[in-house]
Amino acid sequence: MSNDEVLRRIGSAGVIPVVTLSSVDDAAPLCEALLDGGLSVVEVTFRTEAVAAAIAVIAERYPEMLVGAGTVTDTRQVALATAAGALFGVSPGTSPAVVRAAHASGLVFWPGVCTPTEIERALDLGVTTMKFFPAGALGGAEVVRAILAPYLHLGVRLIPTGQIDDGSASEYWALNGVVAVGGSWIAPAGLIAEGAWDEISRRARAATVRYRALRGEYA
Ligand code: 3PG
Repeated sequence: MSNDEVLRRIGSAGVIPVVTLSSVDDAAPLCEALLDGGLSVVEVTFRTEAVAAAIAVIAERYPEMLVGAGTVTDTRQVALATAAGALFGVSPGTSPAVVRAAHASGLVFWPGVCTPTEIERALDLGVTTMKFFPAGALGGAEVVRAILAPYLHLGVRLIPTGQIDDGSASEYWALNGVVAVGGSWIAPAGLIAEGAWDEISRRARAATVRYRALRGEYA
């Protein structure tokens, strides 16, 4: 899938649910819950042993789901994510080696930044879409607006992530240059552990309805 198509899908969803799966068995019910709530995007983080298998299950059984790999911090994980069928990768920071490995393997990749210098280093690596992390802790939407201002004309686009929830997402969505937001509030580890799929679905639906209303669409 091309970079533009992945970005179009992300921009259409408005939210990237960031999930940590301790068991591959959670992958299918999670996907059912997200899809039921109107979200067809998910980022599975490299924080457990289950991640590659979970991405593979999602890629095989839920082709309508745009599945990505998160917390990708080394080149081995780039290879694992790509082999498992991930369609995008995300990292909390910007490792030139990881970015180059992702580009070499054709994986759409959004490294993390949180300063102007980091944005310029990412631009040097040929990256224009970046995760902005940890957005909430750094000051929220006002910081994102300010840091984007000098770079919008260069095509920089940000995906603010970290400490975002249903209440604050719309502040980021309103900003020029924000493609979507990422966050674990839709499917936090606690709800996944409880198998609270209805609640995850409800949260996905709430975010989808809010985002579409903001864009003048109907859910
Ligand atoms: C993360 O790295 O944990 C993600 O960016 C999600 O952050 P959040 O749990 O604060 O939403």
